[in-house]
Amino acid sequence: MAGVRHPLTIAIDGPAASGKGTIARALARHYGLPHLDTGALYRAVALAALEAGVDLTQGPAVAALARALDLDHCDDARLRADRVARAASAVAALPEVRNALLDVQRRFAAAPPGAVLDGRDIGTVILPQARAKLFVTARPEVRARRRFLELAARGTPTSEAEVLADIRRRDLADSTRPTAPLARAPDAVLLDTSDLDIDEAVRRAIDIVEARIAA
Ligand code: DC
Repeated sequence: MAGVRHPLTIAIDGPAASGKGTIARALARHYGLPHLDTGALYRAVALAALEAGVDLTQGPAVAALARALDLDHCDDARLRADRVARAASAVAALPEVRNALLDVQRRFAAAPPGAVLDGRDIGTVILPQARAKLFVTARPEVRARRRFLELAARGTPTSEAEVLADIRRRDLADSTRPTAPLARAPDAVLLDTSDLDIDEAVRRAIDIVEARIAA
């Protein structure tokens, strides 16, 4: 890794259960960088809103919760619940909320030695100048299967068809909202993990970043 300029910023975007979180954590470990799961920020805001009884369509009220967010509280196990994921998709559509979370994400990435951020709009909006950008995806059926197995391992009762329907609903909501929709940046490298195991996906992600660093 000689010759790496700092801060080294790596942007990973993609839909739910594409493998982007696993890849982001592995890249962070490989390059010795901190990692920010930006979906957790939206989930934490959603949980705060649900707990405070704040209407999820009220931009200014939800944004006030976003401004008060403590990054240290973003690894709460309750953030993984389905109802929180659905609420996160709703609050993520509010421009006031996205705006309130912009600075915290950019500050995280700007401090040396850099960072790996994963989300939906990292390469397009948060870090358009990121050194390396990946757009990680997989076929919806494959993502549903992964999420179903994950939920089953946690003992959450659900069916694969239900999980697939939920993934399709969230994909549609996240990619068609007017503000910062899920989209591949023109300079993001596409990594389809449908037919890859985790080790192979991580190896390819490292190759992509290495190619960018060398460029
Ligand atoms: O990746 P995730 O499932 O934890 O994300 C939760 C929700 O937050 C998801 O519906 C999309 C949204 N999100 C977003 O709009 N922008 C991001 N940078 C990260 C997540």
